[in-house]
Order: sequence, then C-alpha cells, then structure tokens
Amino acid sequence: MRVALMILLGLVIGVIGTANVMNALAARNPMPKAVMETMGYHLGELKNAIKAKQCDPVKVQHHLARLQSTAGDITPVFGIDEKAFTDDATQLQDHLQQAVQAAPATCEALAAAIKPVGETCKSCHQQYR
Ligand code: HEC
Repeated sequence: MRVALMILLGLVIGVIGTANVMNALAARNPMPKAVMETMGYHLGELKNAIKAKQCDPVKVQHHLARLQSTAGDITPVFGIDEKAFTDDATQLQDHLQQAVQAAPATCEALAAAIKPVGETCKSCHQQYR
C-alpha cells in the first residue's frame, strides 16, 4: 500500500514538474504563438466579413495590411531554418502583398484574394504545426 502510494506520488510530482517546465518554456518565448494568433484573428475577421456579406473595403484593407506585416515576423520569430518552412513564410508574404495591392472592394474579390493565403497557412501547418 505504502509503496503504491509512493509510486503514485512520484507520478503526480513528475506530471506537475513536466507541466511546469513546458509552461516555462512556452512563457519564455510567447512570440511564435502570438504571431500566429494575430494572423488567425485578422484572417478570421476577413472570413467573417465574407460570411456576413459585409466587406467594407477600408476594414478589409486594414486586416490585409496587418496580416502582411505580421507574416513578416514568422521567419525571425520562429527561427526555423528549414527551406520548406522559410519558403512557405515567403510565399505567404508574397500572397499577402498581392492581396493588399489588389485592394479588394467586394466580398467576391476578397474571397479570391485570400484563397491562396489560406492555402499557404494550411501548407505550412500540415508539415510544422
Ligand atoms: C511558415 C509556416 C507557417 C505559416 C505560413 C503559417 N503558420 Fe500558423 N503555425 C505555424 C506553426 C509552426 C504553428 C505551431 C506553433 C506552436 O505551437 O508554437 C502554428 C500555429 C498556428 C495557430 C495556433 C497558435 C497556437 O496558439 O498554438 C494559429 C491560429 C495559426 N498558426 C494561424 C495561421 C494563419 C491564419 C496563417 C496564415 C495567414 C498561418 N498560421 C500561417 C506555422 C505557420
């Protein structure tokens, strides 16, 4: 009984310790997730606008510009040096630059502009997320 309790206690301490270490590591560099969450927010707002059929060009341009500037943080913040990763990050920036330049004025134009953007998010997530 006593041995079983000690083993259980050991396991619990181990789990708590591991969770603490994981949290500490995540807290040490919150930037990768912050960059992703920021892009997730702005892309989400654009998708909501399309769903609601309310694509105010000024708001659309704001979200596209925020996406573009945030995407520029991916490579320096993640520090992943693999070609597939940096290629996807560069491609995302290219697609976003095109979307900003297209300055979509309708929901249809917006949907067309963010389609390649969403595909690039997916492409990188499939391999690295
Ligand atoms: C070059 C690779 C790459 C691209 C491009 C990319 N992501 Fe990510 N994303 C990642 C990785 C890696 C993670 C996992 C991060 C982690 O868990 O620390 C992630 C995680 C996320 C998360 C979850 C964040 C969390 O708290 O775990 C969201 C939301 C997200 N990405 C949104 C996006 C959106 C939206 C786009 C496109 C506009 C995008 N990402 C493009 C690599 C990428």
